Amino acid sequence: MNPFYLRNFLKLNDFKKKDILFLLKFSKTIKLKKLIKKEKKYLKNKNIALIFEKESTRTRCSFEIASFDQGAKTTYLGPGDTHLGYKESIEDTAETLGKIYDGILYRGHQHKNIKKLAKYSKIPVWNGLTNKFHPTQILSDLLTIKEIFPKKKINKIKISYIGDSSNNISNSLVEASNLFKFKLSLISPKEYFPNKKFLNKYINIKNNIFLTDDIEKGIYKTDIIYTDVWISMGEKLKKQKEKINKLKNYQVNKKILKLSNNPFIKVFHCLPALHNTKTVFGKKIMKQFNLKNGVEITEDVFNANKKIIFQQSSNRVHVVKSLIMNSLIKNISL
Ligand code: CP
Ligand code: NVA
Repeated sequence: MNPFYLRNFLKLNDFKKKDILFLLKFSKTIKLKKLIKKEKKYLKNKNIALIFEKESTRTRCSFEIASFDQGAKTTYLGPGDTHLGYKESIEDTAETLGKIYDGILYRGHQHKNIKKLAKYSKIPVWNGLTNKFHPTQILSDLLTIKEIFPKKKINKIKISYIGDSSNNISNSLVEASNLFKFKLSLISPKEYFPNKKFLNKYINIKNNIFLTDDIEKGIYKTDIIYTDVWISMGEKLKKQKEKINKLKNYQVNKKILKLSNNPFIKVFHCLPALHNTKTVFGKKIMKQFNLKNGVEITEDVFNANKKIIFQQSSNRVHVVKSLIMNSLIKNISL
């Protein structure tokens, strides 16, 4: 039986390395089947609820397209569309949806809420991002790594994450490093290092994770520089100024790339990215903090790595499709 059947997908470390590898292999095949127009629909009688308490482009679209490609029907429940949290508890909402749907995608504020949703709905619940984790993004990143480094095993890759190392992306990278044993440098001002209690949970991690506020040390001979927005969705506005002032020196720009001493360095970004003045928020932050050419990443670095960054984002469809297929169908031989 496949390891995802009728299980929740709340974080990477609820699974074993071989489970994640199984899903990545499945993703590679289903991606190819779509490309050569040989994809068969396995989810024709399935209904999926998509709960979003926060905004989204990639996660919503990848879950919808993955479902449609496979013949499943979806209901999008955006912020304010349900009684959830205001007039109805998570428990009651979960019981209701659990009797109508086959699976639930949840993007929300508190990780503890997705656990409740999973417990009371009794159908597979997939994490589309919480304050703590963003596991489907990292699945997509792992698939992208396999594609761009076809000859290297994941444990031979070194990733240097620069920015807010206490957010959902860095936490999920920590979990991925714990599973795959790749070297991960988390480079941030000390205030934005991962939560200690969280890190201490991972017994095997000591040799692979390196925390530093020194960019030069963290980036040396790395294969991938990974960055994310400095202010995550739902973060309190009160501390924004202090945070950006601290993170200002951690912008991914050409100067930083050179410090890696790797002329073949790749840059990852989970998106959305603030790399120019074409967004309201980006423009405001660049002006307010006197940032040149972008916020967490400069326009030139973004453009030079665009192909890979959009590969990360389009791979979301294939990993999500593999996830929902294997959560809802016991045995699929493609
Ligand atoms: N990377 C990602 O999850 O993007 P969205 O917020 O657009 O879903
Ligand atoms: N850390 C970001 C990730 C966006 C995909 C956020 O939570 O907003």
